[in-house]
Amino acid sequence: MNRSVRRHGLAAIWGRWRQDRHRRRLRRIRFQSGLGDSAWLLYGLVRSMKPEVCVEIGSARGKSACHIGLALAENERGLLYAIDPHHPTAWSDDQSTDTWPIITRNLRRLGLEERVRVLRQDSAVAAGGWREPIDLLFIDGDHSYDGVRRDWEAFSPFVRPNGVVVFHDTLWDLRPDERWSRPDMGVPRLVEELRAAGFPVLTLDEDYGVSVVQPVPNGRPLRPPA
Ligand SMILES: C[S@@+](CC[C@H](N)C(=O)[O-])C[C@H]1O[C@@H](n2cnc3c(N)ncnc32)[C@H](O)[C@@H]1O
Repeated sequence: MNRSVRRHGLAAIWGRWRQDRHRRRLRRIRFQSGLGDSAWLLYGLVRSMKPEVCVEIGSARGKSACHIGLALAENERGLLYAIDPHHPTAWSDDQSTDTWPIITRNLRRLGLEERVRVLRQDSAVAAGGWREPIDLLFIDGDHSYDGVRRDWEAFSPFVRPNGVVVFHDTLWDLRPDERWSRPDMGVPRLVEELRAAGFPVLTLDEDYGVSVVQPVPNGRPLRPPA
């Protein structure tokens, strides 16, 4: 075995060892998130799509950000902008005070500081200066109808034609849970309106509903028109 082969072999083994260590650490972090194992859907989309730019609205303690960030790190490319004011909002969980130190610590534990840029901002502020095309957009911030619609309208025009928008809590009304029930939840209504308007929507009945939307009315044709 020559020196170069040995060096590359060792680099691959070291890379895999680091990945395994970070996954083990990820599983041990208590995020107090309703996203459940659906966080792995985000991870899988990122591993498959190899996005350059991901945006998430609503990060809290960083469950979704860590799963997206880990996948970007394994891809060795791409960046996630994780937008959240990190102070208590109407859509923070009741134990939230300031989640900024928690998300930054979680990202640091996984070595993801260079793959995830935490923007401590309301999404409306972040949207004001937004210019970059987006490959994957995850919307999990203000769950009121007006709030989620505002995020969709502000950011979805930047999503590339083969990009995706993922919403969390889209089956909230169909799987009511007394503990969390609230009348101002607007995500299912918005996503149903998008579906009725012809946007392709795929919904998974897990973790209060996760829907993947292609932000192209009637979907992207698979073949060019004859
Ligand atoms: C359900 S939590 C997000 C959970 C997170 N995605 C996870 O994986 O655990 C909702 C978050 O949205 C944030 N949020 C609420 N309104 C927002 C807004 N206008 N812009 C950005 N984030 C917002 C809250 O601060 C809260 O942290």
